[in-house]
Amino acid sequence: MFMKRLLSAIQPSGELTLGNYLGSIRQFVSMQGDYESFLAVADMHSITVPQDPKALQDRNRIIAAYYLASGLNEKNCTFFIQSEVRLHAELSWVFECIVNMGELSRMTQFKAKTEGKKDLSIPCGLFTYPVLMAADILLYDADVVPVGKDQKQHVELARNIAQLFNSRYSPTFKVPEPIIPSIGAKIMDLQNPQKKMSKSAQNTKGVIFLTDDEKQIRKKISSSLTDLDNYVDYDEEKKPGISNLLSIYSSINNISINDALSQMKGMSSYGEFKKLVADSVVELVVPLHEKMQNILDSGKVDEILDRGVKRARIVAEKKFNEVASLVGFGRR
Ligand code: AQP
Repeated sequence: MFMKRLLSAIQPSGELTLGNYLGSIRQFVSMQGDYESFLAVADMHSITVPQDPKALQDRNRIIAAYYLASGLNEKNCTFFIQSEVRLHAELSWVFECIVNMGELSRMTQFKAKTEGKKDLSIPCGLFTYPVLMAADILLYDADVVPVGKDQKQHVELARNIAQLFNSRYSPTFKVPEPIIPSIGAKIMDLQNPQKKMSKSAQNTKGVIFLTDDEKQIRKKISSSLTDLDNYVDYDEEKKPGISNLLSIYSSINNISINDALSQMKGMSSYGEFKKLVADSVVELVVPLHEKMQNILDSGKVDEILDRGVKRARIVAEKKFNEVASLVGFGRR
């Protein structure tokens, strides 16, 4: 019997990246033995930008298959598709009525995703989706939310919303803790190491997708943007490209940056270093993709998602009923 609960999600807005894996999925795997885990595929978040509906539905299944291929199992985890538990949207509405626009305007992801765009062309969903994320988390009384660094601010918003609701109505929601990995919390784009590696990046040359084959991975890493110093060291400001590759290597091999650096000692060129990093990435990504494909072909993903959504709905309904009565929905 687990004492504490974990919730996290990934949006199927594109093919999963190495960043998604190292920043989030890997944490779910290492924590699953200690927490009752609710793991969602956040399809409602994906439509903040236009999507091909059929491709989106396919990716819902693929992300669930990646969860399973990574070693997450039903004994510890409830897997479900966010949109199949409609109460996420209902709770989000309640929260939209208590959170203010000032707080949402401070969200750095919103600023990054709307940079250079005019207000008239920005969908309101891009502004309010952190509130939906708060609903995703709080509906399940999550104690912890493992996420990459880019999502920390959104978990903090969920904490604020929980506290606001609790003080306005009655103690109802747990105040969740974000859990950020010490290495791999923000994997950067290989062609632009100032920018986070993202599944929806326009230029895919700097993004390692979990569906990439060995040749693609080696090409992307060998052509990644670095400096001209030709010595390996960790310095995010002066050597962002090399530091990013070092983070990837350390994170995959579960070693500290210092240990990684001592393995690189004596290397005469970046080419040698990049090859070592590429070997590690290939060893991780290629078999994971194969396993994911086998799971997808086995047809068991749908059964697992069907069982998961039943369990998720029970937990969500109980919590939402408390909220509905506190805010005064329906009749007495
Ligand atoms: N580059 C990254 N490094 C480490 N962690 C990352 N995460 C995302 N990118 C990196 C973490 O992956 C989880 C799932 O992310 P998401 O699907 O909810 O959306 P996101 O954070 O907006 O990720 P993307 O890949 O950048 O998607 P798009 O392009 O659609 O916006 C989260 O825990 C996230 O922190």
